[in-house]
Amino acid sequence: MSADCMDHIERFRRYTEDFQDVPDAAPLRLKVEHTFRVFDHARAIAAGLGAEPSSCRFAADAEACRAAELAALYHDCGRFPQFKEYRTFLDAKSVNHAVLSFKTARDEGFLAGEAPRVRALALCAVLLHNRHALPSHLADDARFVTDVVRDADKLDIFRIMVSHLTSALPERDAVLLHVEDAPDRWTPKVADDVLAGRIARYSDLRYVNDFRLLLGTWMHELRFTATKKALVESGLMEQVLSQLPKHELLRPALDKLHAMLDQCRADAEGRN
Ligand SMILES: [Fe+2]
Repeated sequence: MSADCMDHIERFRRYTEDFQDVPDAAPLRLKVEHTFRVFDHARAIAAGLGAEPSSCRFAADAEACRAAELAALYHDCGRFPQFKEYRTFLDAKSVNHAVLSFKTARDEGFLAGEAPRVRALALCAVLLHNRHALPSHLADDARFVTDVVRDADKLDIFRIMVSHLTSALPERDAVLLHVEDAPDRWTPKVADDVLAGRIARYSDLRYVNDFRLLLGTWMHELRFTATKKALVESGLMEQVLSQLPKHELLRPALDKLHAMLDQCRADAEGRN
């Protein structure tokens, strides 16, 4: 890791410490941990670019890789002022946290010492990291940086959500957005998203099984081999799929998700 990245890590830590000086800082500490996991994933993706198949390899230069790592570090910096003001991480009940992260990173001057292109690419990725879909006109380098952050972010959100799907942690309801735990039910629209190759929308989720299907639809969007490899090695997707109901009507979606996981495994092992 470069000395400059250490400066950024220190800057991020100092920035978050002020917000954590409150009695109920546990959710903020989890956001700090999430940030460093996303940062580590982003670095692993950048380090593994040589293993990408040539068909989807963007010729990432040093500036683009640096922008991706810094964007991963600052992608959720708006979560801290969001929680301070609204006491929630629910964007629908407060503000779009990616927009707030963009404004915070810009106004705090987190990237002030960086080359203009690094700064622009990193801020763009911070702003777009939670979009349901990315704009079609993004330049290749901006898409690359944004995709690194989105892949890395998904990987860690996946870990967090799966831990809540399988246990009774106190924050379970908040993480799963208060959906209903009806073991045999799911929303047909979300199963249709699986079959149509779409990412499911949070606003369509009604049951815990919908969450499982949503996590499955994220496989539609994963771009990098390092992410697929980490997902396959974690065993978390198998776990999620095994918890879905074995109902005849859900069978096509379940078969599709298993096929997508097999494809992830093949990509991770370089069998294309
Ligand atoms: Fe985020």
